[in-house]
Amino acid sequence: MRIDVLSLFPDFIDQATSVGVVGRARERGLLQVQAWNPRDYATDNYRRVDDRPFGGGPGMVMLPEPLGACLAAARAADPAPARVILLSPQGPRLTQAKVRELAAQPRLILLCGRYEGLDERFIEREVDEELSIGDYVLSGGELAAAVLVDAVGRLQEGALNDAASAEQDSFEDGLLDCPHYTRSEAWGTEGVPAVLLSGDHAAIARWRRRQSLGRTWLRRPDLLARTRLSPADRTLLAEFIAEWRAAHPAGQG
Ligand SMILES: C[S@@+](CC[C@H](N)C(=O)[O-])C[C@H]1O[C@@H](n2cnc3c(N)ncnc32)[C@H](O)[C@@H]1O
Repeated sequence: MRIDVLSLFPDFIDQATSVGVVGRARERGLLQVQAWNPRDYATDNYRRVDDRPFGGGPGMVMLPEPLGACLAAARAADPAPARVILLSPQGPRLTQAKVRELAAQPRLILLCGRYEGLDERFIEREVDEELSIGDYVLSGGELAAAVLVDAVGRLQEGALNDAASAEQDSFEDGLLDCPHYTRSEAWGTEGVPAVLLSGDHAAIARWRRRQSLGRTWLRRPDLLARTRLSPADRTLLAEFIAEWRAAHPAGQG
């Protein structure tokens, strides 16, 4: 998969996507990331990429000309059709389902705004969709683009050493992940649920599913309300809730 990112801070994009799983995916050629600077496509002497807004008011707005020329160059760098995404606090919030959908695309072009954002006419003409990473305002789209590249990049086939680990991640099946424990010498097995030490794989799988359901019930009831549970899941959740209520007689839920 190829992701081009248009940003006034291309070095940040390159560095932010050069570490860990996504950095390895780039090294292995599973993911190609290229950053483009609209300033390189500004034609005036000052290499201006922004100007004051029509109608006055505070702040500057990104000019459409350098963005347009930069986008054309990025598009021309590869014949594969690209979905153009503007990172914006005004878009729908990014979800794991959207990440999965985007990870299956051959090519994305991400646009990072700065200042008050992009000229609206450019958005209407060039942008296929807007995406937000949350209900807060960043000073630029670079962090949001890096989030998107990371989430999409780790899903490329071969990026994770064990693909099954992504399948049990939070949100993949509408639920949060279960808690994890590891073999720490200093911490020993104290506090580790006995079932995880039992070697009984069926019991471990049941425990993990029950925890996943229970955690989602406790922490993200909104997710649970949108998830269709099998009769077996409903039984596991009822068990979790009964145990939890017994342990927290004064608690809510
Ligand atoms: C200071 S913000 C502009 C905010 C804009 N005036 C508004 O209120 O909608 C500059 C740029 O940061 C990026 N940005 C800010 N918050 C974001 C968010 N929550 N998700 C994705 N991108 C964001 C966008 O690219 C935006 O164009």
